[in-house]
Amino acid sequence: MSGPILVFGAEGQVGREVMAFAKARGIEVAGCNRAQADITNFSAVEAAIFTVKPRIVLNAAAYTAVDRAETEPEAAYAANVVGAELVARAAAAQRLPVIHISTDYVFDGTKIGAYVETDPIAPLGIYGRTKVEGEVRVQEQNPRHFILRTAWVYGRFGANFLKTILRLSREREELRIVADQYGCPTATQDLAEAIFAIDRAWTEGGSATGTYHFAGTGVTTWHDFASVIVEAQAQVTGQRLKVTPISTADYPTPARRPANSALNSNLFGAVFGYCAQTWQTRAQETVKMLLKDSRVET
Ligand SMILES: NC(=O)c1ccc[n+]([C@@H]2O[C@H](COP(=O)([O-])OP(=O)(O)OC[C@H]3O[C@@H](n4cnc5c(N)ncnc54)[C@H](OP(=O)(O)O)[C@@H]3O)[C@@H](O)[C@H]2O)c1
Repeated sequence: MSGPILVFGAEGQVGREVMAFAKARGIEVAGCNRAQADITNFSAVEAAIFTVKPRIVLNAAAYTAVDRAETEPEAAYAANVVGAELVARAAAAQRLPVIHISTDYVFDGTKIGAYVETDPIAPLGIYGRTKVEGEVRVQEQNPRHFILRTAWVYGRFGANFLKTILRLSREREELRIVADQYGCPTATQDLAEAIFAIDRAWTEGGSATGTYHFAGTGVTTWHDFASVIVEAQAQVTGQRLKVTPISTADYPTPARRPANSALNSNLFGAVFGYCAQTWQTRAQETVKMLLKDSRVET
């Protein structure tokens, strides 16, 4: 199998990491941003696939504004359901596999312990509902699909929790952060590694298509995640601020979030041979890299 990995949504935080990391690794890659290929436009998606002639297609494009989705359900549906379907269909027409990224917010958070792939889905909000329907469309349209559910994504590019905490660390004396939601912070570097592992497995002739969980190793709360970020920046800047735990009830948001959306990534590790670093290691590395590069822009 020849040709590059074709990335839709190449300017999102995951898309940019995959593009940059692939180039650094010498992995052939081509990307389309929204202007080059809007995934809700079938002809544009088809044309990109026709022009690039990829070996595998990655859909990293999505509507990701969890709270705004509650008042913009059509926009969320367009990208997360229609767009997901069209990318999967256009890839299938060329007999190409599609890697589709989904989310821990497909679950309602009532499970004790980490979610496995076969657990019942029950999203709490519009974003989660559109992502569930997107998964179904991908499964229907393209038998060569890899659906990768991930969680709490952060990295050097785009807007994310880690970068917001770094910025607030410079502006505030105290942070009040939710301490009763549990999940697995996932670094974009680990996600890119997971995507390359799928690409390798497919290229080498494996056919382990299906739905997989892939997230950072370890489970934490937003409060403890913030505390590690604040401590890592304090080691560089010497400025330590207070991180106070609060409850979800103290921080109401338009969209309800699962109280526990920890993902069990064991199946992915067993099939593709890659496990993420612990979330603490990656968070510390990312803080140090961002402070060194002064690239904290959110
Ligand atoms: N961020 C998280 O914590 C998280 C957690 C779990 C799963 N995920 C999933 O991970 C994937 C990547 O998310 P991310 O964090 O990289 O999100 P992101 O930074 O918001 O990037 C999404 C990208 O998709 C683009 N896009 C939106 N609608 C499009 C359309 N119709 N056509 C083409 N491009 C479009 C956006 O472009 P514009 O900037 O022009 O809108 C943006 O560049 C998504 O599937 C998301 O659901 C994310």
